[in-house]
Amino acid sequence: MDLNTIKSDGIGGAAGEPAMLPTTAKKVFIKTYGCQMNVYDSQRMGDALAADGYTATDAIGEADLVLLNTCHIREKAAEKVYSELGRIRDMKAERASTGREMVIGVAGCVAQAEGAEIIRRSPAVDLVIGPQTYHRLPSVLARVRGGEKIVETDYAIEDKFDHLPRPERAEIIKRGVTAFLTVQEGCDKFCTFCVVPYTRGSEVSRPAARIVAEAERLAEAGVREVTLLGQNVNAWHGQGPDGKEWGLGRLLSRLAEIPGLARLRYTTSHPRDMDDELIAAHRDLAALMPYLHLPVQSGSDRILKAMNRRHTAKDYLALLDRIRAARPDIALSGDFIVGFPGETEADFEATMDLVRQVNYASAFSFKYSPRPGTPGAEMADHVSEAVKDERLQRLQALLLKQQQDFGSSLVGGVIDTLIEKPGRQAGQKVGRSPWLQPVIVDEKAGEIGDIIKVRITKTGYNSLFAELA
Ligand code: 5AD
Ligand code: SF4
Repeated sequence: MDLNTIKSDGIGGAAGEPAMLPTTAKKVFIKTYGCQMNVYDSQRMGDALAADGYTATDAIGEADLVLLNTCHIREKAAEKVYSELGRIRDMKAERASTGREMVIGVAGCVAQAEGAEIIRRSPAVDLVIGPQTYHRLPSVLARVRGGEKIVETDYAIEDKFDHLPRPERAEIIKRGVTAFLTVQEGCDKFCTFCVVPYTRGSEVSRPAARIVAEAERLAEAGVREVTLLGQNVNAWHGQGPDGKEWGLGRLLSRLAEIPGLARLRYTTSHPRDMDDELIAAHRDLAALMPYLHLPVQSGSDRILKAMNRRHTAKDYLALLDRIRAARPDIALSGDFIVGFPGETEADFEATMDLVRQVNYASAFSFKYSPRPGTPGAEMADHVSEAVKDERLQRLQALLLKQQQDFGSSLVGGVIDTLIEKPGRQAGQKVGRSPWLQPVIVDEKAGEIGDIIKVRITKTGYNSLFAELA
């Protein structure tokens, strides 16, 4: 997988059409951990709950329903959830003392991995629901109201996407001009460090027609940029409306035809699934942004083998050559793990070498964290925390330098920017560059949803400053 890990706290669920809701509407607070797919899932749970009469709230104390959409990818993610649950339990008790209830639900990958253990350790939790059963949330909640504690973590036979309600137009507009769209879920790659094949299950692609319809609906509501999501998104395949088998490249070409949809992205990809058609899409589709998140994890062939990545460092570099030949201005992003079991100083140096050769525009790097049940956790020669810390520091210093150099290389040049939202400071708006950097412009530079040409004047830590070109 390798979906970028972002943290977005307190994403409210969804407010449906307010006029249609009873005045006593229940409130839901959803907190999202982890990757973009969880963000998307939280929105879809919000849609399901809106249809069930809930409105979103950012104030946890006011919530009749608190949902934690959890992540299990690294480190003591589960432990963090348990300590958060401790705090929420106290709020639940406080509400109970005033005669109001608070239902507590745990969703996402920790729910899938831990199941009933969550209720055993945190008895205040009322329901545990895995990612494949979110469409059952309303019926599960009805049972919770009847006094049951529920653990729903099977891999449902029915497709949840067929059963989740479509977001209301007003809701899409509220979420902004950029949107996520899950096209594929699960992973069959079984990298030896990774828990995803166990928490998200095996690879499933959504049908092309459904994806196109959802993208059209987003575009009609004013969305200008769509990021297709999948744990292994470039393994997406499905039958197209022409009856032929489509891959992601073909799907992107179709999505690029949708009026209003100016920008497309996809994440996250596995190097083994970058086929010719997808590479050609980078050459042929102006809407496909010149930015690719293509994790490699390590630059050492020995470690790549132990990780079961099924490619070498040379394969990866050769692939990048082909992608860059197709789209010379493409910028790359990656994921790295330091301190995988058995990683020597020489292995780590091979990673540093690869990073120097590729020159990344951005990257995410992590210390290896053993995940229970994965082959990596059982391997010999675990690397000490001190060594992991030291390697991570060296790698991050190099990656940060590359990221800053990339930003600096844009100064003085003119780029397209999609205006996304008001800035934090008065008089500013924030846009998004083709390479995902925030671009700070004067608020009069354009309206939200406009794509404007700007000249970059200077760089910030993680952003660009620009003026209308
Ligand atoms: N330890 C450290 N990092 C991990 N990742 C996935 N599993 C682990 C783990 N057990 C990282 C990988 C992946 C990203 C999403 O998280 O780099 O690409
Ligand atoms: Fe990505 Fe490998 Fe995990 Fe699959 S097993 S989600 S390819 S890191």
